Amino acid sequence: MVEQFGAELWLSDGPIVTGAAGFRFPTRMAVIRLPNEGGLWVWSPVALTQDQRHAVDALGPVRHIIAPNSLHHTYLADWATGYPDAVVHAAPGLEEQIAGTSIHSTLGDPPDPAWANTIEQVIVPGNRITTEVVFFHRPSATVLVTDLVQQIPQGWYRGWRAVVARLDLMTAPVPSVPRKFRMATTDKTASRDAVRRILEWPAERLVMAHGAPLGSGGQQALRHAFRWLMR
Ligand SMILES: [Fe+2]
Repeated sequence: MVEQFGAELWLSDGPIVTGAAGFRFPTRMAVIRLPNEGGLWVWSPVALTQDQRHAVDALGPVRHIIAPNSLHHTYLADWATGYPDAVVHAAPGLEEQIAGTSIHSTLGDPPDPAWANTIEQVIVPGNRITTEVVFFHRPSATVLVTDLVQQIPQGWYRGWRAVVARLDLMTAPVPSVPRKFRMATTDKTASRDAVRRILEWPAERLVMAHGAPLGSGGQQALRHAFRWLMR
């Protein structure tokens, strides 16, 4: 179900996906409607069901499909096939063979002119797991973060995975950078420079691919999540 979360911003939960070592993840995509007939901008798309398609189509034409890091590509090919006129944009490091679809544009630090007046973006380098592109949607004051900050509900995992998830801070009581991403940050200077720009955004809302969205306090939540890097 697609639900409005802010001005010209909608969220939709997708089915659970299973990642490395059998960890199951809740998934969420965001849809932003660009001004001036700019069409829809679809971030981290979840499974493209008939219901999903009807709900999205009711908002406008899909023009941009975004893979915000090299890990979130599971449904990219389905969306690219379903919306052949849309431009597929991917974070650096996602290869076409892995994504199973053509990538028309690699995301950089300067936003694409198609959304530069509406959405800002920062590439977070220096991380061995993935290079993530974090976005800020100005009209709704929302930061969109994929895997770098997570807050999977406590009780989501059972047994040994619950222990690992707790120690990794995937299921911490507040949005957190999982420890595996902290340890994978081998170039802290590069990461810090990028995160500093993210923390300057006047974020009210915070959307995570894996965690309940925050309707307020987004900037404070991000500053708290990145304290380990910025101090
Ligand atoms: Fe993820």
